[in-house]
Amino acid sequence: MTWDTITLDVDADGVATLTVDRPDQLNALTVDTLEAIGEALDEAEADGARALVLAGAGDEAFVAGADISYMVELSTPEAQAYAELGHRVADAIESFPAPTVAAIDGYAFGGGCELALACDLRVAAESAVLGQTEIDLGIIPGWGGTQRLSRLVGDETAKRLVFLGERIDAAEAAEVGFVGEVVADDAFDDRIDELAGELAAKPAFATRAAKEALNAVHDGTQKGGLALERRAWAGLFGTHDQREGMRAFLEKREPEFE
Ligand code: COA
Repeated sequence: MTWDTITLDVDADGVATLTVDRPDQLNALTVDTLEAIGEALDEAEADGARALVLAGAGDEAFVAGADISYMVELSTPEAQAYAELGHRVADAIESFPAPTVAAIDGYAFGGGCELALACDLRVAAESAVLGQTEIDLGIIPGWGGTQRLSRLVGDETAKRLVFLGERIDAAEAAEVGFVGEVVADDAFDDRIDELAGELAAKPAFATRAAKEALNAVHDGTQKGGLALERRAWAGLFGTHDQREGMRAFLEKREPEFE
């Protein structure tokens, strides 16, 4: 199967590489792109992937977030549907039956960070910049970020990052536990290949069992939290600050919030 805005390659060792391929828009995620990612995950699983790398095309971005030009005029019901789709894709990444690695080279903002958070491991290039930047668009993380970021970095750091929409470099991201590893830019691709190859070479059935067991640690409370997040996120659409934040971005000016 082929898609317009993503590519999927599964090599002979069982390493699947799923690349978001909209470099002119810094790999921002449209509905079509999210749906394609969902289909590609199914295809990678059917092809027997033993490890999966999630990456962004081009030199500038991993994924610069959900597509703001799509979101700017969404109603609450439309936003709810978009949140449901984003959650489905993030959940599919999280429960993919082989280890997943987010290869964060460049910008990872908003929904891009949220897809990375759904991966098992996050490796960042030294020059990467990360942030849950939604607050400056008048919204909040809506594809699992409030729950998964908090789990990963702790409540206080998550609140600082989400309340302030801070854009942090890879070194700080590693310091707070947002990413597990930082690699020099010129060694990045080789390191991703090496790590994915190593993961794919492990016993696949045991790795899958380990992943299921490790993921189960958080299941009790996360579901309620995620449902709450979807409602809260969608409820922000149609507010002055959401429209203003997104319009200001698209018009390349500073927002004037209420
Ligand atoms: N949604 C839609 N389009 C986006 C986008 C997004 N999340 N992020 C970037 N783009 C588009 C820009 O609108 C621009 O398109 P244009 O060339 O048609 O004007 C193109 O990608 C390049 O982005 P630009 O802002 O011109 O590049 P830059 O190098 O000056 O800045 C960023 C790069 C990543 C710092 C900046 O694009 C940015 O802050 N993006 C939004 C990040 C964000 O808040 N994401 C969270 C969304 S939930």
